[in-house]
Amino acid sequence: MKTKIVVTGGTGYIGSHTAVELQNAGYEVIIVDNLSNSNADVIRGIEKITGIRPAFEQVDCRDKEGLTGVFKKYSGIQGIIHFAASKAVGESVQKPLLYYRNNIVSLLNLLELMPEFQVNGIVFSSSCTVYGQPDHLPVDETAPILPASSPYGNTKQIDEEIIRDVIHAGAPYKSIILRYFNPIGAHPSAEIGELPNGIPQNLVPFLTQTAAGIRKELSVFGDDYNTPDGSCIRDYINVVDLAKAHVIAVERMLKRQSETQLEYFNLGTGKGVSVLELIHGFEKATGVKVPHTIVGRREGDIEQIWADPRYANEVLGWKAVETLDDTLRSAWKWQLKLK
Ligand code: UD1
Repeated sequence: MKTKIVVTGGTGYIGSHTAVELQNAGYEVIIVDNLSNSNADVIRGIEKITGIRPAFEQVDCRDKEGLTGVFKKYSGIQGIIHFAASKAVGESVQKPLLYYRNNIVSLLNLLELMPEFQVNGIVFSSSCTVYGQPDHLPVDETAPILPASSPYGNTKQIDEEIIRDVIHAGAPYKSIILRYFNPIGAHPSAEIGELPNGIPQNLVPFLTQTAAGIRKELSVFGDDYNTPDGSCIRDYINVVDLAKAHVIAVERMLKRQSETQLEYFNLGTGKGVSVLELIHGFEKATGVKVPHTIVGRREGDIEQIWADPRYANEVLGWKAVETLDDTLRSAWKWQLKLK
């Protein structure tokens, strides 16, 4: 019998790529998603790639009764990967209560239900945003957690603390917290990818829409940072590489490959890339020009961050392998398909 894994937010960007990799690795996937920022067509994309249609339950993780129904219906669920969350930094400043309720109540419901249904572990989607602007780069997992600069970032910090506290209090399950750097790109088949809602806030979806002529030009938020070319630096990680880390984390958790009940891993490439380098890299990889202009800094942006991924490389046994060129080409292929 296949091991059953609940993937909350499984029709979303990272969730859908992870559902593919889990199915390819032989897991039975049960997607739980309220479709608030995705659509059910994604299920078809997952099926096209893997040949298997994952189970899908349209349930909001804030709804504890609804979630209970899922755990009853699919008996013997062994693990959860919890992606379902709101993730727009700007929106979180406007609607903090939405973010606190959505991102925190959902986690509380899952953690409360886990012992009741003997679920053995939960992998949690966190973010490098918990490090703020680190003093030392690259940043490793021992770096201090700095005060969050948005309600969104705060929900990730609070969620990490909630998991830490319940495990400290003796919860009968394991947890792995994955801190993502900047996920970009799409599945090479272009059957699934990122579906931005309205005007994209993140760099790569805005860039590909500009290259496709949907947006007039890309604004580069600042060229007066203390970086070699003046634009901000991030660690852009291929979404399929990122998805594969979840499969390894689930395996590690369920097979109890570590003594530790709670672990944290940075998921990044270890390489910092500036906004201007990314734009020029895209132009070179695809041969398509991206009209862009330098504008003022965006509020809340940190100057530079990239991961020290050695702990994930050595202990988790995972490494980002896709090149930035291929990743940018996959984002472009997906954009062309959307168009
Ligand atoms: C943000 C969040 C991160 C979250 C991620 C996913 C913070 C500090 N970061 O990452 O936690 O997980 O979104 O939603 O809260 N840029 C432009 N022009 C644009 C868009 C972006 O120049 O039109 C620049 C930004 O200034 C930044 C870089 O591109 O330097 C990446 O921005 P973005 O894709 O929005 O991700 P982050 O802000 O790094």
